[in-house]
Amino acid sequence: MFEQGREAWRALEAAYAAGKLRAIGVSNFTEADLDNILSSSSVAPMVNQILAHISNAPFDLIEYTQGKGILVEAYSPIAHGELVKNADVAEMAGKYGVSVPQLSIRYVLQLGLLPLPKTATPKHMESNAALDFTISEEDMERLKAVPRIEDYGEASVMPVFGGKLS
Ligand SMILES: NC(=O)c1ccc[n+]([C@@H]2O[C@H](COP(=O)([O-])OP(=O)(O)OC[C@H]3O[C@@H](n4cnc5c(N)ncnc54)[C@H](OP(=O)(O)O)[C@@H]3O)[C@@H](O)[C@H]2O)c1
Repeated sequence: MFEQGREAWRALEAAYAAGKLRAIGVSNFTEADLDNILSSSSVAPMVNQILAHISNAPFDLIEYTQGKGILVEAYSPIAHGELVKNADVAEMAGKYGVSVPQLSIRYVLQLGLLPLPKTATPKHMESNAALDFTISEEDMERLKAVPRIEDYGEASVMPVFGGKLS
């Protein structure tokens, strides 16, 4: 498995060296997966795209990845839409006069991550980019303590939401 990962990375490095790719990175990589690549490569991954949102952020992996100088990209920052059902998060969003998606995206930004939200609704896209507010340190701590979402609804069948990667 680790050898396959190294082989795939060598192919990406070659494409990068040839100028065919502007940036190369990985997704859902654990600390061991990263070490496997870092110990055998000439180009380090530029990004590790992982599941990270209020209630479910792998802080150790984030710190480890950032410590290696690799950008952490937070996919599903709104928990695939599930966070809008959380009454406590909604209450805090109301305090800041923003929507739950805005609070959720701002949260990962303040963790030093690059948010990767998705929307098919132009109005949501517009408001999701309007993040000119700051979550207080105290509220960041409260958000870090929000109990983990256990049920991602229909998305739970996907490995990343079913917890099969953790
Ligand atoms: N690397 C991986 O393994 C992996 C795994 C999963 C996902 N991803 C990527 O991560 C990105 C986002 O993932 P995601 O779609 O799972 O999660 P997400 O961005 O957390 O949530 C998307 C959901 O939130 C809703 N939403 C977004 N903005 C909203 C707003 N302002 N108000 C109300 N609802 C809002 C969307 O509905 P509307 O369309 O109606 O706005 C959609 O149902 C995608 O590009 C996906 O490809 C990567």
